[in-house]
Amino acid sequence: MSAEPDLDALFAAAKAVQQKAYAPYSRFKVGAAILGEDGKVYPGCNVENAAYPVGACAEAGAISAMIAGGARTIRAIVVIGDGAELVTPCGACRQRIREFSVPETPILIAGPEGIRARFSLAELLPASFGPANLPK
Ligand code: THU
Repeated sequence: MSAEPDLDALFAAAKAVQQKAYAPYSRFKVGAAILGEDGKVYPGCNVENAAYPVGACAEAGAISAMIAGGARTIRAIVVIGDGAELVTPCGACRQRIREFSVPETPILIAGPEGIRARFSLAELLPASFGPANLPK
């Protein structure tokens, strides 16, 4: 496996799964694709609910797919949404990503035309709480 993740494949997977999102309330479809440490791509999309707070973000779905697929580490994640603004992960999803990342893990934000911005996990969630912060 190369040191640099195949961002073209990750972007394509995120864009494909974005179309499958269930977002009848916000009408804002989001896709996410994780490259696991096993080299596999794990997609997820947002799944909203008539009881609005019960809806799930695309990142949460991709993480669930990764864990169910047997991987445990995020090598990179692409998040894609429409509109002019960056679709950066919400606070809760930053914490979800952090559980399976290192500070340098790339979080790439895309629009329909391609990758728009690249952050590290540490940039989006500085001084974060993780497994090692729990008492032994
Ligand atoms: N959403 C995501 O799935 N991921 C993000 O990073 C930002 C927001 C979803 C949640 C909700 O279904 C819709 O986008 C509008 O907030």
